[in-house]
Amino acid sequence: MKTYSIALIPGDGIGIAVADAAWKVLEAASRKWKFELRATSFPWSCAFYQQTGAMMPEDGIATLRGFDAILLGAVGWPAEVSDSVSLHGLLLPIRKAFVQYANIRPHRLLPGVEGPLKSRDFDILCIRENTEGEYSGAGGRVHVGTPDEVAVETSIFTRNGVERILRFGFEQARLRRRKLASVTKSNAQKFSMVFWDEITDKLASEYPDVEVKNYHIDAMAARMVMAPESLDVVVASNLFGDILTDLGAAIQGGLGFAASANINPDRSAPSMFEPVHGSAPDIAHLGIANPIAAIWSAAMMLDHLGEPAAAADIIASIEKATTGGIGIKPGNNKTHEITEAVLAALA
Ligand code: IPM
Ligand code: MN
Repeated sequence: MKTYSIALIPGDGIGIAVADAAWKVLEAASRKWKFELRATSFPWSCAFYQQTGAMMPEDGIATLRGFDAILLGAVGWPAEVSDSVSLHGLLLPIRKAFVQYANIRPHRLLPGVEGPLKSRDFDILCIRENTEGEYSGAGGRVHVGTPDEVAVETSIFTRNGVERILRFGFEQARLRRRKLASVTKSNAQKFSMVFWDEITDKLASEYPDVEVKNYHIDAMAARMVMAPESLDVVVASNLFGDILTDLGAAIQGGLGFAASANINPDRSAPSMFEPVHGSAPDIAHLGIANPIAAIWSAAMMLDHLGEPAAAADIIASIEKATTGGIGIKPGNNKTHEITEAVLAALA
């Protein structure tokens, strides 16, 4: 029997409940589809930070490297630990260290789920650059606390980084409806974004079967609301992709439905799977977190690991649950009820 070793990082807030829900579904899928999942759980979180002074141990990255994949709930508890500390201490270093350069986020309405738009027939795959750009972390502050204080934060775009994410987008488009939207702001940002557009144009000639369009980020934000059905694969830089995928989550009915995969396409290190939503401290103890985003992310993990039938089965089970009305209105169902509905559909 095939065995996969999974590092489980539930994290903070509702991350703990949704990771638990996703794991229950994964276990059921593994029994049904006859493979073995071995979980090792790591308590790395803001609570861990308060005990140890770090979000993860010094050898955290080295420890994770040995796993086939990482399943993460959510990170952040801003009342106790500032977000800039918690995210730069756990989530963001994992994405960078394991070269998970492709962040994949599907946006479509599940059956039964009401979105805020009239349009129901959209199916967008956002692909966000996940290791550089605006999240490079290059910068500093001088004259701190004085009126002369200066803060500089430089976006870094490399030819390798831009080319590989666009190429990934083109390849995904080939598996879908062969349409690629490349998102920049090259009318205002004349170095990095013009560079991105040039690389898009160059690659387009290698993929003549894919229809390519360049959009500015502002126009893309409007298009995702006004004409989301016109989009197929959308590729964007780290920050632009971050913003667009919260918009994508909104049009699919909310963050509780938005799944995400941080992929290392070369498979030189583990990939990480996590819902797009955060730790949601405001509802953390109410038992009403929607686990669908986490369960869908877990399905993406199985697909990546080489269990596409089990992955498709989980997604079909989520759809069966939402068709039956479960989990479609925020707060209407308890986390465990939604999880049980998915498990029942899977059985
Ligand atoms: C996301 C989140 C993170 C990001 C935060 C928590 C740093 O918003 O995964 O979209 O910006 O990447
Ligand atoms: Mn985000």
